[in-house]
Amino acid sequence: MREYDIAVLGAGPGGYVAAIWGARLGASVALIEKDLIGGTCLNRGCIPTKVMTEAAEALKVLERAREFGIITSNAEVNWGRLASRRDEVVSKLRRGLETILKARKIDLIFGIGSLRPGGGISVERGDGSRTEVKAKKIVIATGSIPTGLPGIDVDEDRVMTSDGALKLTSPPRSLLVIGGGVIGCELGWALRKLGSKEVTIVEALQRILPNEDPDVSRVVASSLEREGVRIMTGRKVEGIEKGKGDLVAFLSSGERIEVEKVLVAVGRSPSLEGIDTKGLGLRMEGGWIWTNDMMETNVPGLYAIGDVTGGPLLAHAASAQGMVAAENALGGRRTFKRALVPSCIYTYPEVGRIGMTEEEARRKAGRVKVGRFPMSANSMALIKGETEGFVKMIADERTGEILGVHMVGPNATELISELSLALGMEAVAEDISRTIHPHPTISEAIMEAAHDLLGMAVHMP
Ligand code: FAD
Ligand code: NAI
Repeated sequence: MREYDIAVLGAGPGGYVAAIWGARLGASVALIEKDLIGGTCLNRGCIPTKVMTEAAEALKVLERAREFGIITSNAEVNWGRLASRRDEVVSKLRRGLETILKARKIDLIFGIGSLRPGGGISVERGDGSRTEVKAKKIVIATGSIPTGLPGIDVDEDRVMTSDGALKLTSPPRSLLVIGGGVIGCELGWALRKLGSKEVTIVEALQRILPNEDPDVSRVVASSLEREGVRIMTGRKVEGIEKGKGDLVAFLSSGERIEVEKVLVAVGRSPSLEGIDTKGLGLRMEGGWIWTNDMMETNVPGLYAIGDVTGGPLLAHAASAQGMVAAENALGGRRTFKRALVPSCIYTYPEVGRIGMTEEEARRKAGRVKVGRFPMSANSMALIKGETEGFVKMIADERTGEILGVHMVGPNATELISELSLALGMEAVAEDISRTIHPHPTISEAIMEAAHDLLGMAVHMP
């Protein structure tokens, strides 16, 4: 039997990147996938959600056009076109990926892979036949699945997870979103904008986006509310009654909400099908597969990357870990730096973040300096008519090293990459302050926040 240099289990953005990176480095690679290449991100995550949020944003641009002096007739959403565009974008990217895998001579094997305790992977194909894959090194990249809630029966029609919500071909008349995290806010806002008359987000904690800086949560919450999304925090949904008419949701506060559909978005859990963690002797941490920063599990020759390791649960983190694992599987010593993973939220306005929140920074670094710059004082934000939001930069008071940056506003998801480079290079606030940013751009707000941090604000009194 042929022995591959690397076998990768799962073809999401972690697994397929590990496979391509390994092949680029000269390894023979097998990639095993039970469903669709591209994984959660491409097929039921990042890409289809962003087709939806982008469409919602297009409507916002049309609304602002009036302010610009452009008169358009009333904009309407053609859901048939929207849904087929969502599927077309996904298929096009998947076809591109297929071509790349073929060009890199990666053996793509479709079927459910099970790790054998002594080594190797047994793959059960769709027709019930089995094939064995032998490899010197194995990378587990099986990703994650939506977490359910006890007593709430998900049918992906009336009670959906994001998997069901991303297959919608018309907007629910009314929608209850359980969980005010990233999925809840992105899909809640997009569906409200794209035609749902009533959207309510119920969040257990005291604010939506509880992992973000509180100032960020505040801006996004007030914008969502202005768009007509009802936000109820500090309470949980304890049960859903499914009758013939609308669903009835019962809240821990005693309130009841009647809705057409429910979206459960309360986090994700590791996908461990085919991985007998006990039998393999894998060390686990909080239910996720433990790895060191070289993406090695405690079992020699076995690496794990992406969501199945607990993340961060982000596609670009999975891909970065995939490169690290592939290099190390071939004798490298590369490490993954979790603190340098940016995260983005595609709400309106957008959110970009890297590093610590102010509270975390104060806890870990002691004395910190904070610089801020509001979008309302940025010329391009004013030109675009998008003045909501800010840039907040947090640095170590002694060394000036940037510890965290939080951006809310236009293009925040694109602009945060500047800060990824800055933090990766251990930049100090002065480096950003002295970097010449083009005018007029939103990016100047980053420089201005650095000026403010140094007590040298230019475009603020
Ligand atoms: P996955 O993408 O989950 O891929 C795992 C693959 O393994 C799957 O294809 C699965 O079928 C396969 N598999 C599992 N078990 C087996 C087995 N035994 N045999 C064979 N194959 C197997 N992240 C971002 O960075 N930006 C975003 O905008 C973003 N938006 C998102 C929106 C939504 C609605 C969701 C749900 C997630 C979003 N994410 C986003 C998160 C992102 O999708 C994940 O972090 C990313 O997909 C993780 O990649 P992965 O390779 O670890 O796992
Ligand atoms: P999440 O962890 O972001 O949010 C879940 C929310 O649900 C939390 O705020 C939590 O307090 C709340 N919650 C938990 N139990 C609850 C209950 N019983 N009632 C009410 N609220 C409850 O998880 P989410 O939104 O499911 O997303 C999963 C992951 O997918 C994210 O962590 C993120 O990493 C990734 N993702 C990334 C995106 C991006 O990068 N733009 C977009 C969407 C998802």
